[in-house]
Amino acid sequence: MKIDVKTLNPKTSRSDCIIAGVHTNGELSPSAEKIDQASNGLISDILKSGDLEGKTGQTLLLRKVPGVRAKRILLVGCGEKDKLDTAGYFKVLKNAFSALKKTKAKTAVCFLPEITVEKHDYQWKVQQSVRVAGEVFYQFDRLKSGKKKKPVFTGLEIAAATKALADKGSEGARRGEAIVKGMQLSRDLANLPGNICTPTYLAEQGRELAKKYKSIKATVLNERSMEKLGMGSLLSVARGSQEPARMLILKYEGLKKSASTKPIVLVGKGVTFDSGGISLKPGSGMDEMKYDMCGAASVLGTMVAVAEMKLPINLNVIVPTVENMPGGRATKPGDIVTSMSGQTIEILNTDAEGRLILCDALTYAERFKPKAVIDVATLTGACVVALGKVATGLMSNNEQLAKDLLQAGKATYDRAWQMPLWEEYQPLLDSNFADMANIGGRDGGMITAGCFLSRFAKKYDWAHLDIAGTAWLSGKNKGATGRPVPMLVQYLLEQVGAH
Ligand code: BES
Ligand code: MN
Ligand code: ZN
Repeated sequence: MKIDVKTLNPKTSRSDCIIAGVHTNGELSPSAEKIDQASNGLISDILKSGDLEGKTGQTLLLRKVPGVRAKRILLVGCGEKDKLDTAGYFKVLKNAFSALKKTKAKTAVCFLPEITVEKHDYQWKVQQSVRVAGEVFYQFDRLKSGKKKKPVFTGLEIAAATKALADKGSEGARRGEAIVKGMQLSRDLANLPGNICTPTYLAEQGRELAKKYKSIKATVLNERSMEKLGMGSLLSVARGSQEPARMLILKYEGLKKSASTKPIVLVGKGVTFDSGGISLKPGSGMDEMKYDMCGAASVLGTMVAVAEMKLPINLNVIVPTVENMPGGRATKPGDIVTSMSGQTIEILNTDAEGRLILCDALTYAERFKPKAVIDVATLTGACVVALGKVATGLMSNNEQLAKDLLQAGKATYDRAWQMPLWEEYQPLLDSNFADMANIGGRDGGMITAGCFLSRFAKKYDWAHLDIAGTAWLSGKNKGATGRPVPMLVQYLLEQVGAH
């Protein structure tokens, strides 16, 4: 999809569809006002008739509107004038582009960034418009045989009232496009099935990124190197599978001259399929455990967005990746393993495997002397029980880091909710035979998983994002969401002082 930000007139634009906002109480946005004048009051007529009330997210498609050159006009309700908040604006964008997708329009001009949104400027509005358009028009059909649906929609123009706004908007569009690219990669990797997206494949995709972007360097550790490093916990998860484990390390250097600048490290859980191992999962819905590498997919997507934007920052990504299967050599409940940190772990449930691979990756991260480490993982079913599919679970050993991530989530409507990592939860992980058990029982399941990880993240500022509920959708709309790429990219933008 080609994207352009420029000054445009809704009367004279020859696009396939103009997207314009209307408010409740018959009030029009500036572009709707111009269309209204050109069409002898058609828009105000429609509002008066009550066919469109202007409530947030309502849409109405018009064709052959007199006095304008565009083939279609898509009116979108933006609620009461000057009262639209972040949530409302995202609803407006999502519904507008979803309605556009149902038409045969190849091009569109979007006037929605002219609508006032509480606490946000023009650049932000353009950035989010581009991102949501990218999200809505995403499709994954590479594994369907026969004729591939060609993307019908090819060009989006964003209208700006002045040249100065067009310049600001262009920066927003550039960022939006980078985030879309990152989300697309993340969703593609996640949607691929476990028989294609294996640990070897995932690591190979990391190498491909290093080929594509000069600013990225890739290293892949095989099982022998990991054994030498003492990653007994990670390797214990891979034992039941025919697929060998890998650890992918990507380094992005956006600050060449000051190579001493500490990097931010993102760690992504890359379980390419989670059968549960010997503690086998129940059968229903088990296919969705191909999504157990969404953490990995999201940190790779974030890296792509950062490389596209050429952000002046040093960023490392670590992806521990395995397949969790119940083979003859698989880890058994009761087995005790030694992690790279030296701490021993009694594996009481082989289905709590994410933390077992993440802990060794967290220890490995120490060597980068990181400014902060953020791990991203589809870690617990308990997270889905607590927060549903709306919020990502957040835990951290540093309040400022937690705040920054929560804020980045709010600004991008890719929100997280903080859970406590209080001392009182730690004893739930006590083991009679090892330094700790890998599960803490039913109570506070999301938190005890965080507590487990915290024991391997003592040497730096660290945050944990449990994306078990937010990384993908089930049912009719089954598919990866690309979350939390928007939140992570926003956090990194803030780190370099760009908002
Ligand atoms: N990948 C799962 C968590 C998960 C389950 C994510 C459902 C999304 C939807 C993870 O490896 C797991 O199996 N966790 C166990 C931990 C338990 C055994 C302590 C869980 O949540 O049931
Ligand atoms: Mn599991
Ligand atoms: Zn898992």
